[in-house]
Amino acid sequence: MQATLTLHPSYTVGKTDDRLFGSFIEHLGRAVYHGIYEPGHPTADKDGFRGDVLDMVKVLQVPIVRYPGGNFVSGYRWEDGTGPKEKRPRRPELAWGTTETNEVGIDEFQAWCKKAGAEVMMAVNLGTRGPDDARNLVEYCNFKGGTYYSDMRRANGFEDPFGIKVWCLGNEMDGSWQMGAKTAAEYGRIAAEAAKLMKWTDPSIELVACGSSNVHMCGAWELEVLQHVYDHVDYLSLHNYYGNPANDTPSFLACSLEMDSFIKTVCAIADSVKKLKNSKKTMYLSFDEWNVWFHSNGVPFEKWSVAPHQLEDVYTFEDALVVGCLLMTLLKHCDRVKMACLAQLVNVIAPIMTENTEDGGRCWAQTIFYPFLHASAYGRGTVLDGRLECPKYSTKAVADVPYLETCAVQQEDGSMTIFAVNRSMDEDLELTCDLSAFGMQEAVEHIILTNNDMKAVNTADAPDTVVPEAGGNAVLTDGVLQTKLGAHSWNVIRIR
Ligand code: AHR
Repeated sequence: MQATLTLHPSYTVGKTDDRLFGSFIEHLGRAVYHGIYEPGHPTADKDGFRGDVLDMVKVLQVPIVRYPGGNFVSGYRWEDGTGPKEKRPRRPELAWGTTETNEVGIDEFQAWCKKAGAEVMMAVNLGTRGPDDARNLVEYCNFKGGTYYSDMRRANGFEDPFGIKVWCLGNEMDGSWQMGAKTAAEYGRIAAEAAKLMKWTDPSIELVACGSSNVHMCGAWELEVLQHVYDHVDYLSLHNYYGNPANDTPSFLACSLEMDSFIKTVCAIADSVKKLKNSKKTMYLSFDEWNVWFHSNGVPFEKWSVAPHQLEDVYTFEDALVVGCLLMTLLKHCDRVKMACLAQLVNVIAPIMTENTEDGGRCWAQTIFYPFLHASAYGRGTVLDGRLECPKYSTKAVADVPYLETCAVQQEDGSMTIFAVNRSMDEDLELTCDLSAFGMQEAVEHIILTNNDMKAVNTADAPDTVVPEAGGNAVLTDGVLQTKLGAHSWNVIRIR
């Protein structure tokens, strides 16, 4: 198969916001306890954070991490996770049916984020709580001192405010599974009032309103909620997870087209509310939960236990291709999608896995670690608005799926990266791309992630089963890039 990609420096989508490469840590399963936090682990620091995990998070250069949920946040009392650890209450955690020890709370999490080089994206409880607790938490985190909650923080040993900039107004409030779920009208009102109080407490913060919980619930919710919150918030959230329960890989690989249409739909709704309100403001999007999630569905766990194995999807090679396609889709919408969170970061539907054993336990990278790593490392800059000609296929759900998914980003230093997935199961694809208008000199690196087994996985014992390798054949001759993209492969072509 042959494909032609046309790029020109004048045709761009926009500049990426670094926060497009965010992630998510929820009090769920072994994400916090035995994930980022494990006092007694040989690599743990004085605060109990695992150094091996922290090192892997730093490799991913995650700029922002959403916390503490997810569904968890809708029943959360944030004060439980502050003050002396021995006095913190253990509570039944209703979202996931476990026991929450509260050993880690916002005090510890913001400290972990600093170590990881990330900022916190803090979610407030608009399920069982409301605007008053939300503004108290902003005061606790961001007020300098001299007030009840800011002095409480100082008394807890944190003299300096945390300076948390991005705040989510609840989580998936349209979902019946959510504690304190709401109708769009109920949520719109409470979110608008919470937003006012939170911004009056700290006018520098940015707020994210809940969009719908997934693409199938999208539409009327956004239309109504936005009419209440449009003037008060900066972003609207999108959540969606993708899976391959029917083991139909060509369809699974096409799911990024569904993400693309989801984003376009939400933009259209947001823009219609902009017109309804005669507003000059454009509503940006925060795709703050996205990933592949289906492998772990139905896996049992012990009810009310502490940090059980929950949502521990073991990712296959084909999942990595899908994550690559989803990342390119987010990049191609960087003019509207300013923030995105790969859900989640450690152990729970995550690129990083840990063991917890008597003597510590290993940690390793899942297959999906690699496309995220490459996008985070080389996907920051100006996304080019390319035109692609290539053969297509159709699935039951989507017509005209291009065999090639690709996206080009020009970095600040003038270099360029072309990301590409060949979706074909059996045919290589010859790509030609005229880059003469960019004055490029050479293709310096062509990284490939591929495997003969679409279901290959990385484990603690075999962590290098699916790993990227150099050795692609991309070559630049007289400004024209040519390369072979192998069947079912993720490619990162770096051009100087
Ligand atoms: O990320 C796992 C869960 O998925 C989150 O708690 C919830 O927001 C979503 O439904």
